[in-house]
Amino acid sequence: MTVISVSGGAFAAYDVVVGRDLLAQAGQRIDALARGRTVIVSDETVARLHAPTLVASLTAAGVTTQVVTIPPGEASKSFSELERVLDRLLEIGLDRKDVVVALGGGVVGDLVGLAAALYMRGIDFVQIPTTLLAQVDSSVGGKTAIDTRRGKNLIGAFHQPRLVLADIDVLATLPPVQLRSGWAEVLKHGLICDAPFFGWLAGEGAAGATGDPAALERAVIRSVEIKSAIVGEDEKEAGRRALLNLGHTFGHAVEAELGFEEAALAHGEAVALGCVLAFRYSQHLGLCAAAEADRVEAVIAAAGLLTRLEQAGTFSADALMARMAGDKKAEGGRLTLILAHAIGRAFVEKSVDAADLRAFLVDQGAAG
Ligand code: GLY
Repeated sequence: MTVISVSGGAFAAYDVVVGRDLLAQAGQRIDALARGRTVIVSDETVARLHAPTLVASLTAAGVTTQVVTIPPGEASKSFSELERVLDRLLEIGLDRKDVVVALGGGVVGDLVGLAAALYMRGIDFVQIPTTLLAQVDSSVGGKTAIDTRRGKNLIGAFHQPRLVLADIDVLATLPPVQLRSGWAEVLKHGLICDAPFFGWLAGEGAAGATGDPAALERAVIRSVEIKSAIVGEDEKEAGRRALLNLGHTFGHAVEAELGFEEAALAHGEAVALGCVLAFRYSQHLGLCAAAEADRVEAVIAAAGLLTRLEQAGTFSADALMARMAGDKKAEGGRLTLILAHAIGRAFVEKSVDAADLRAFLVDQGAAG
């Protein structure tokens, strides 16, 4: 078991615990925060698989608990589901000294985190992420949000959890596509700032992409270390935290064009493709050697992830550009992209030339 402390000047420090069999040991850790009462919010699928273990652990620790479920899927990140969760917390009578536990993937974590930020002007919450993507990314750092018809994650709050428990054993029940999707975010962390980690992920560590628990544990630990160091420096994404968006501007454009239904393309699959495009665009600008972009593409392909636009579908360059310009990371009409000088050396580029980027997308196979 490894404990990583997330600390920054602007928020109370908290631990991310990464290890095996943590669900069964969660009760005592949560009791230390909850002083006797908690509500678990989960989706129906995850609740069926994992809530009984968590409830038993809490009960054994003397914590009374109730389980509230939401329907699985991105559609639950909505105003209506947020209202329903808040209403259930009010009905149960949770007060500000109690704790809410988010048991699930990114959808549950984002929705419950926002509910916790709003409930009685802010209540403590614990993240128990049950997908690889949530363990290495969304459960750490305090971004919470819902979607609206105008875009994903546009309504939200920064609300840091009090504790994150990343239990490697729960990943055993993940469908392969979900593992691959989370693995893309793991690779992203190496690409941003840790070339030796990326080298390990490409070699010995590659077994994590198909579920090897020892490789997964090491990959989650290093990812959380990287993410928590960045968040500690820049909680509100005024600067360095934007690096965590590597692959996301391209990826969001592709996801949005395909529609965000889970059958289309998992988030991490779009991010993986986006990382390849970010490296290819860096190469196109003469910022990064072709051999580096080739290696990124080869490692991502070896993990069973998409690396070419045409593998994801047929896209119009104008439609992708409109999505990228509309991305919430675009500032004052200029396009911001995360680019790289090399593997492990990503940087924020705030003045990307739109016409040049469009020509690049056509070169990559988008219809001109
Ligand atoms: N997922 C990017 C961030 O947390 O900033």
